[in-house]
Amino acid sequence: MNKNDLEKEVAKIRWWHTIDLGDGVVTNGVNNPVQLLDRCALPEDLSGMTVLDIGAWDGFFSFEAERRGAKRVLATDSYSWGGEGWGTKAGFDLARRALGSKIEDMEIGVLDISPEKVGVFDVVLFLGVLYHMRHPLLALERVSSVTGKHLILETHVDMLGTKRPAMAFYPGDELSDDPSNWCGPNPAAVEAMLKTVGFKKCQRIHSPVVFRTGIVWRAGRALYVKVRKNDSFSRRFQQSRMVFHAWK
Ligand SMILES: C[S@@+](CC[C@H](N)C(=O)[O-])C[C@H]1O[C@@H](n2cnc3c(N)ncnc32)[C@H](O)[C@@H]1O
Repeated sequence: MNKNDLEKEVAKIRWWHTIDLGDGVVTNGVNNPVQLLDRCALPEDLSGMTVLDIGAWDGFFSFEAERRGAKRVLATDSYSWGGEGWGTKAGFDLARRALGSKIEDMEIGVLDISPEKVGVFDVVLFLGVLYHMRHPLLALERVSSVTGKHLILETHVDMLGTKRPAMAFYPGDELSDDPSNWCGPNPAAVEAMLKTVGFKKCQRIHSPVVFRTGIVWRAGRALYVKVRKNDSFSRRFQQSRMVFHAWK
C-alpha cells in the first residue's frame, strides 16, 4: 500500500493507540502508549519467547513484543474488536498489514481463555483490562492458566489508603463515566489475587513515573478533577494506575 492510500485508510479509523506505521504515517490514537510502555517494564529482549497480549485493541504492545524478538505473538480481544464499545478491530488489522507483522490474532473474551483454546505463553500482557472485569479473580484465574512464566499486569487501582486487600466496585459509570469499568482493587488485593491464582512471586514495578502513586501527584490530580469536573477529591485521591509483574 502506498503512503497516500495508507493515510486514507488510517483516517477512516477511530484509533485507541498512537502507532508509528512508518513512512511518516502515525495513527491519531486517543491513547499514546509510549508512556505505558516505559511504565510496564516490558523486557527489552524477548528473543525466542512466546507472548500473549490479552485486550490488545489496536495492538501496539503486540507489535512491540514482535519488534523485541518474540518468536510467536498472539493478540486477543473481545469487547473492542466485537464493536461493543466505540472501537473495532479495523485498526489492528490495518496496522498489522502496514507493519508487515506476522502476529496472530483471536477474538476471545478473557473468561473464555484457556490453555486448550490459546496455548500457554512465556510472557502474558494484561494491560488496562483488569478493572474492566466483572469477575476479576476469575479473570486472573484464566490469565494464570495460560501464563507459563511471566505476567505483566497494568491496572487502575483504588482504595490506596487501605493496607488490607480491598477492592472498589463500580456498579454504574462511577469510574471515568464508563460503565465498562467494574472494579478498582488496591495493590494488596492485586497481589493477593495473583498469589491466589497460582503466581509464586509478585512485584510492584517502580518506574520513572512511580510518583503517580505518591501523595503529591494524586493530590494534584484529585484537585484538578475536583475543579474541572466537580468530582470528589477524596475518592480521586485514592486512585491511580500501577504495574505488577508476577512469575509462576
Ligand atoms: C483500556 S483498553 C487497553 C488496551 C491495551 N491493552 C492498552 O493497554 O493500551 C481495555 C481493553 O480491554 C478489552 N476488554 C475489555 N473487556 C474484555 C473482555 N471481557 N475480554 C477481552 N478483552 C476485553 C477492551 O476491548 C480493550 O481493548
